[in-house]
Amino acid sequence: MTRVIYVNGRYLPYHDAKVHVEDRGFQLADAVYEVIEVSDNSLVDATRHLTRLWRSLSELSISPPMSEPALRHVMGQTIRRNRVRNGLVYLQVSRGESPRDFLFPDPPVPPTLVCLARATIPAQVDQRAETGIHIITMPETRWKRCDIKTVMLLPACLAKQQAHAQSASEAWFVDAEGLITEGASSNAWIVDRSGRLLTRPLDNTILPGITRRTVMDTAASLGLVVEESPFTVAEALDAAEAFITSATNTVMPVIMIDGQRISSGTPGPLCRQLRRSFARVAEHSPVGYVPSKLENQAFAP
Ligand code: PDD
Repeated sequence: MTRVIYVNGRYLPYHDAKVHVEDRGFQLADAVYEVIEVSDNSLVDATRHLTRLWRSLSELSISPPMSEPALRHVMGQTIRRNRVRNGLVYLQVSRGESPRDFLFPDPPVPPTLVCLARATIPAQVDQRAETGIHIITMPETRWKRCDIKTVMLLPACLAKQQAHAQSASEAWFVDAEGLITEGASSNAWIVDRSGRLLTRPLDNTILPGITRRTVMDTAASLGLVVEESPFTVAEALDAAEAFITSATNTVMPVIMIDGQRISSGTPGPLCRQLRRSFARVAEHSPVGYVPSKLENQAFAP
């Protein structure tokens, strides 16, 4: 259970953690976020997640709310105060609080920073991975800058809700050419009948998933070649294996797409191998640890 949430410089009890109604994140979805896995008291791939956060901020011309070491400190404090050993830490940065206007506030206002941590039960995720998940496909309805991790998540909510109504746990978006872009909250992968490991190349149509990147490194460490190449729904239905990647799932097998079984309808061997090897390749930084190259930067939590 989340007990304490960091909001703009203060660690507040859950029910007191609030932002203003004229926060641009609330009114205009003018905000970006990150979700980082906490595994056995370590942050998983925090450096890559924070680098992506900085990129998202820069794409929207929002100033970073504090230095990277300070942000790591806030994450560490939030995780500790909630006694989270395994789970996730969520960061959100909005352009800040200002009377509603489409134009950016001029002069700029201080960005809003929220950080919360939540425990999960790793055995439950592992159990899901043993079975594999069901997904559905649906037409792409999102904007043309899916490479920025913004809180503009209504199409993702609608897609997940539709998946849930059909007893599935994820939805894959399909573009106008019939190619799968990505999941509502994950990247999409298949292993085709000739053993090729495929995932869509990075461009503005998908989020550059951190888990996707680390799974590519994991594949390389196992001598496997990843082809960054788009695939169709028909190719996914005919695949030997399918899976999704995201910070909260790492590698999660997909056994059913649109009600049709994938191969034998059980998690495939490559997918299992990538899931098993992921932790060995990912960066694990102990909660509260600040990499030495960042230690001497301005520190203002
Ligand atoms: N979602 N694609 C989309 C649209 C996502 O929202 C996510 C992550 C990913 C996977 O990215 P990563 O490997 O960096 O987690 C891909 C997070 C977990 C969420 O919104 O909860």
